Amino acid sequence: MIKILAIDDREDNLVVIQAMLKTFLPGCSVTTASSGPEGIEKARRDCPDTILLDIKMPRMDGFETCQRLRSDPLTRHVPIILLTAISNSPANRKMGLEAGADAFMAKPIDEGELIAQVQAMLRIKKSEDKLRHERDILEKLVQERTIELRESLQGVERLLEQTIQVLANTVETKDPYTAGHQQRTAHIATSIASAMELDPSVQKAIYMAAMIHDIGKINIPSEILNKPGKINDTEFSLIKEHPVIGCQIIQPIDFPWPIDTIILQHHERLDGSGYPHGISEGEILLESKILGVSDVMEAMWSHRPYRAAKSIQDTINELENFKGIRYDPEVVDVALGLFRQGRISAEKVTLTNV
Ligand SMILES: [Fe+2]
Repeated sequence: MIKILAIDDREDNLVVIQAMLKTFLPGCSVTTASSGPEGIEKARRDCPDTILLDIKMPRMDGFETCQRLRSDPLTRHVPIILLTAISNSPANRKMGLEAGADAFMAKPIDEGELIAQVQAMLRIKKSEDKLRHERDILEKLVQERTIELRESLQGVERLLEQTIQVLANTVETKDPYTAGHQQRTAHIATSIASAMELDPSVQKAIYMAAMIHDIGKINIPSEILNKPGKINDTEFSLIKEHPVIGCQIIQPIDFPWPIDTIILQHHERLDGSGYPHGISEGEILLESKILGVSDVMEAMWSHRPYRAAKSIQDTINELENFKGIRYDPEVVDVALGLFRQGRISAEKVTLTNV
């Protein structure tokens, strides 16, 4: 049912308006109010389809009532026709438009004009309601799709991490002496990356690469990997192939990060003394420099078939002596800073991650 609200301080005017509307729009329901505040209250309660509003009223005039109706989310969309004997004054029309009125009508009211204006307002209201409804549906749909997309993205990320974990386990099964090494290295590397306040996506790349950085060792005979005592030059040249093999294994996976290059470069050193390609400072990714330092720290702390674990002091000496020569100076400073604060340590890394 069409609902119309008429607001006027004069009872006789309300009676006339009500009669006209009932006669020419028989299906509508007309509510009346004799002041601005009462009209606002009824508009909020009934949500009418159109409001007829007198301008000249005591206490709260039509302009203020109109403004208040427009600023209230419950009533701001209801069309308002301002009624007054002085509606033809340009100043009043300007004030009425500024207050948010949609149309004006002069008193005494002409019934033909009243019905035509009300019907025009009802048409506008109907099409605006339809638009608003469609927009609400669209917004809801966008929200639902966004949530779905976020959830499926999280699912893909979880799957990626699980795949990385399986790959990491594979190489560690073959080389039990480095079991947990990749995970502990990943812990050190992400602690450094986080302390350096790197972009979260770079931190993620470092974590992923560190978790599988030795995957190329899968191609090295177990006898060499697990050989007690010193390894010879031929065996070492085979071991030096593992970054290249790791890079080749990972290459077919379309990671959103340069995981293959980070792995390829994790034994490269600033002065070109590293392997496999002997590239130097400017050519090595920051991610690989962080992984390189973390790898050295973890490897020195761990027992290997060919040597016992090195002391903490040996590890610190290695990093300090070769800071700026083999290892990135900023990465070393951050790593040693974290170490001194107790945020990474041989014991903590071993206990948390094995
Ligand atoms: Fe390695």
